[in-house]
Amino acid sequence: MRSTFFSPRGMLLGAVSLLAAATDCSAMGTANSLLLTQIAETVQLPMFTWSANGTHTAKGFTTKEANVASVEGLKEDCDNINLNKKLSVDFRSDVFGEGLIGFFYKCEPISHDTNLYWFTISSGNRTQIDRLCSQKSSYPIVHDSQHNTWFIDEPFDCTQRTSPSNVF
Ligand SMILES: *[C@@H]1O[C@H](CO)[C@@H](O)[C@H](O)[C@H]1NC(C)=O
Ligand SMILES: *[C@@H]1O[C@H](CO)[C@@H](O)[C@H](O)[C@H]1NC(C)=O
Repeated sequence: MRSTFFSPRGMLLGAVSLLAAATDCSAMGTANSLLLTQIAETVQLPMFTWSANGTHTAKGFTTKEANVASVEGLKEDCDNINLNKKLSVDFRSDVFGEGLIGFFYKCEPISHDTNLYWFTISSGNRTQIDRLCSQKSSYPIVHDSQHNTWFIDEPFDCTQRTSPSNVF
């Protein structure tokens, strides 16, 4: 179940936890609450969230058979994330169901068929974060029409996790 906001304070806290790992403390102090509130409202960020950050790799291919690296698509996806960042609503809903909000803010190509991504992710459902951080989770190949590339997400390495402070 997806909870809704009860107060403007709840909205702001949710947005802050979403953006915390991508923003340093001095930047948080000057963060524009209008911006954070709008993002939280738009993505329906729950009031209480579990979050994680870390890195993960993904491989990109030209076809579903995953034989040939999609060199252009991988480069475009990396450039786009480094330039524009990416907020992914209902990230991998095919695997987790709805409700994961992923923020991808840095990318580096590490081989001809693989990119390394830095992420922060948040959900009102703790099980989704547990499963995302599990090295045992696997991800069916998916088509990214924007970059005309088939992507295989590899396991997510969670370096830090947070729980809602008001939930024990
Ligand atoms: C995760 O967040 C912590 C605390 O903000 C930060 O020190 C760390 O660098 C982040 N890790 C990654 C991989 O972004
Ligand atoms: C929480 O996420 C898990 C794993 O994706 C899912 O099976 C479960 O139905 C979700 N629970 C709720 C209350 O949405």
